[in-house]
Order: sequence, then structure tokens, then C-alpha cells
Amino acid sequence: MSEVLLEDLDHVGPATAQKLRDAGFNTVEAVAVASPAELANSAEIGESTAAKIINAARQAADIGGFETGDLVLERRKLVGKLTTGCAEFDEMMGGGIESQSITEMYGEFGCGKTQVAHQLAVNVQLPREQGGLGGSVVIIDTENTFRPERITQMVKGLSEKHGVEYDPEEFLKNIHVARAYNSNHQILLVDSASELANELKDSDMPVRLLIVDSLTAHFRAEYIGRGTLADRQQKLNKHLHGIQRFGDLFNSCVVVTNQVMSKPDAFFGDPTKPIGGHILGHTATFRLYIRKSKGDKRIVKLVDSPNLPDGEAIMSITTDGLGDA
Ligand code: GTP
Ligand code: MG
Repeated sequence: MSEVLLEDLDHVGPATAQKLRDAGFNTVEAVAVASPAELANSAEIGESTAAKIINAARQAADIGGFETGDLVLERRKLVGKLTTGCAEFDEMMGGGIESQSITEMYGEFGCGKTQVAHQLAVNVQLPREQGGLGGSVVIIDTENTFRPERITQMVKGLSEKHGVEYDPEEFLKNIHVARAYNSNHQILLVDSASELANELKDSDMPVRLLIVDSLTAHFRAEYIGRGTLADRQQKLNKHLHGIQRFGDLFNSCVVVTNQVMSKPDAFFGDPTKPIGGHILGHTATFRLYIRKSKGDKRIVKLVDSPNLPDGEAIMSITTDGLGDA
């Protein structure tokens, strides 16, 4: 991210800068993509001033507009593929979980979304020859379900599989976890994640995976019983754009989880559809529907991918982690 401070922008004094920060606009980039009304409300300034500040931020932040196709191609060439640890699953994904894209895993409670997330947090640290991306991971944990003990088990599983003695502690050191206490906090943590990723950008272990587990739980809890979904969807949409940007900027995979209701829920409509509805559907590039099967087997279905055929894979979740069924 840019080194420009909010105070460096025209029309922003220390008091306004503070108000902006208090409202969650921590960076010039965040201001650059805000709407004048939004900024005016949060910083108690007029909309015309807000518009001027946004313009100044856009120039300073270099948030870009159009890119030519050759540049897009250049960026696409950097796309990495992260192994899941299950060959069928990798194959269905065209080699693994892609960087610069959002992958959404949805399914009922206990289907294994958090388990897959833990496994990816381990695998991303492996060198590319082993299916990893040689990088570290940031986890935004909204349900307090991150378990270091589980990582240790999975690293041991991997050691056996590869016949190498990996040190679980080394793996744990490259996993940066933050609890998100509510949806606003969750959104703000993406900025913190960007700061961290920026710091690690030129290190041995740049951030190559961002996990948001669960993407929707706070939104769902906070907006239940309210008259309109519009606010929630708008906020969720903005959040998704923030994490997509993270993926692009740091050539990182982005994996988010989303629950489906097992019981009909009038407020959220169709019980078999993931929370977040259409907006999430259009933003998440890869959508994976996970469901339980016999014993430790799980069925992963790829739904609506832009460039891959829909498909199904069977994986297993054991003490050693994710593997072939
Ligand atoms: P919610 O967050 O509640 O929506 O569920 P989830 O989809 O995240 O489910 P999660 O990933 O937490 O999966 C829990 C399931 O994983 C358990 O019911 C077990 O079947 C399996 N599991 C978790 N830990 C272990 C383990 O150490 N060994 C084995 N064999 N299975 C495990
Ligand atoms: Mg979970």
C-alpha cells in the first residue's frame, strides 16, 4: 500500500484525519474507494469536501482504472495454485486453489470448511515443488475456531506423507490469526491484513493466503430481524471487494467460508442456498459446496466456476488432515 498519510491529502487536517480513522478509513486507498456520502457522514464534513478528498486520495493512491489486456495477462501469469492435499480435489480445481481469486466454501455445520481452511494454512507454507506457495497465511477468525493443536496434527500428517520431519512450531509461526468480534471489526481486519502483507512482501514468507472463517456469520447474526437486507448486502459486497483487492495486490489466495441453513429460515429465504445470496455468488470466483458422506469422507462440488467445468471430488478428513478418499 502507499506510504501517503491521510494528513498528506488536500482538505484533510489532523482532526478530519482522526475522524476518518475512527470511522475505519485507515488508508488513502480506503478513502479512494469510498463514496462522498459515506465519507461525509463518517467525518462530519460536507459532501463537496468529501468528494474533493476522495479525488485527492484517488490520485495519491494509484488505485488504477483500466488495465490493458497484456497487463492483465502479465498478472495472470503469476497466478499460483495451492494444493488441498487431495488429488481429486486439486484436479477438479485445475491444479489447486488459485491465487488472485476468491474461493468460497459453503455447506452445513460440521461439513469440514474449517478443516479445509486449517489444511490450506499448512500447505501454503510448502515450497512450490510440493504444491505450496512458499508463503504465510492470515486468518480472520470470526467464530473462534482456529486450533493450533489441529495445525500440529496436520503438520505431523504431512511429515509422514512426505517422509520429512517438519517442525510444527515453524508452521505455526507463519500463521497470523486475528479474532473478529463483529462485522465492522472483520472489515477493518482486512486493512490490518494488508499492512501485514505489505510488511512481509519482500520477506522469505510473503502472505499467499487470506482466510475469512466465517465470512457471513457476523453479518447474519447482526442483521437478523431487521427489515431490509440491503444494508447487509452492501456491506458484505464492500467487504468482498476489499478481500478481492487483497488477493490481486499480494498475489494471494483468498478462501472464505459460508454456512447453509439446515432449517428453513424465513429471513434468509431458501434454506439450501448459502448466506449472502446473489452478491456473494457473483463475487466469489470459485464456489465449493461441501457435504458429509460416509465416515470421514466428504464430497466437494465445484459450482459455477468461470473457466472450469462443474465437478465433484471426494476427500477424507482424518486426524492427519485432508487427503484422498
Ligand atoms: P461450521 O463452522 O460449524 O459451519 O462447520 P465446519 O464446516 O467448519 O466444520 P469443521 O471444519 O469444524 O468440521 C468438523 C468435523 O471435522 C468434525 O465433525 C470431524 O468430522 C472432523 N474433524 C475435526 N477434527 C478432526 C480430527 O482431529 N480428526 C478427525 N478424524 N476428524 C476431525
Ligand atoms: Mg467452521
